[in-house]
Amino acid sequence: MVKYAFGLLALASIAFAQQPLYAQCGGVGWTGGTTCVSGAACTRLNDYYFQCLPGTGTPTTSTPGSTTTSGTPAPSSGLPFLGGVNMAGYDFSVATDGSFTGRGVNPPVAQFAHFASQGVNVFRIPFAWQLMTPTLSGTIDATFFARYDATVQVALSSGSNPYVILDLHNYARWNGGIIAQGGPTDAQFTSLWSQLAAKYKSNPKIMFGVMNEPHDLQSVPTWVSSVQAAVNAIRAAGATSQYILLPGSSWSSAQAFPTEAGPMLLKVTDPAGGTSKLIFDVHKYLDSDNSGTHADCTTSNVDVLTTLVAFLKANGNRQAILSETGGGNTSSCFTNLKAELAYVKANSGTLAGFTVWSAGAFDTTYILTVTPNADGTDQPLWTQAVKPNLP
Ligand SMILES: *[C@@H]1O[C@H](CO)[C@@H](O)[C@H](O)[C@H]1NC(C)=O
Repeated sequence: MVKYAFGLLALASIAFAQQPLYAQCGGVGWTGGTTCVSGAACTRLNDYYFQCLPGTGTPTTSTPGSTTTSGTPAPSSGLPFLGGVNMAGYDFSVATDGSFTGRGVNPPVAQFAHFASQGVNVFRIPFAWQLMTPTLSGTIDATFFARYDATVQVALSSGSNPYVILDLHNYARWNGGIIAQGGPTDAQFTSLWSQLAAKYKSNPKIMFGVMNEPHDLQSVPTWVSSVQAAVNAIRAAGATSQYILLPGSSWSSAQAFPTEAGPMLLKVTDPAGGTSKLIFDVHKYLDSDNSGTHADCTTSNVDVLTTLVAFLKANGNRQAILSETGGGNTSSCFTNLKAELAYVKANSGTLAGFTVWSAGAFDTTYILTVTPNADGTDQPLWTQAVKPNLP
């Protein structure tokens, strides 16, 4: 869940001015500037979107077909296209300052088979850090782990042989303190991941979601070094083959990624070798302030995702997963979410997939619910926007 309002960036195009890096510079219907600042080349991504991407040489104008990224090889992560859903509940009452007062709610078991039968091949299962280890650096609580793992095992054994994302849903915080920035130490943070990785190291379908929505960090570089510490701990615990999801800043913003945490997260290394098992974890909602709290959608995010895809292709051909997105029970969201997820699917070499927020323990009155109705029917948003874009 996001509570993120992206600040108004001064990216508005000024007629005849050179377009800044990553700005649009052409495409069908485009009326803004068509040349890029020095060091960037106007690159055709598709007929509708030309973008200023890092490149040598003098600025170029956007001539359809003049430059193309079609020659970029597909990432070799081995992942199929992933489409699925968040199964919330064990995160209920985690506040955005990382404090927690609840006991968690089990996501209803029957939903896993329900969604798997439609082709869902990934479930993201959030949990509160304080439920998993009630004290910092303490051992995993056996009672809670039995609950959580029972849900994970139901998910894993549902018909589609899905991936399961373990999502530490704590906003880079424990009880108000930011990891390695006045709050828990990296060692206290990685203690949790060392223990969880040891428990799941033999299951290749487990993905380690290092942290949900870091926000309002004092230092993004310090956060990136905490992410590196988590990767190292997971590998050191023997989980050497699984995918690890690396979160950036500004509530895991897909929009901020190319200019905030992305350039630094690119440098995170994998002790297991290569970078194809390190997938960037991004979120994006479609409402007016990108908070995921309104029933209406105002964007399909195709512009934001196009920029993200270009950034990832231009920087080692890396992959990201859209692990939170969603909308309300409105025609504007049916249309926009469907378009967004279609874009993800069409770019599945770079965007590894999506998990919609949210089903699980949310009831059917929650504003972003995709929890099935009691009679087994799906929400209109699911049927209209999500289901057509499942694998
Ligand atoms: C969604 O909207 C439809 C049409 O307005 C309505 O019949 C249905 O009850 C709504 N569902 C939810 C979960 O609000």
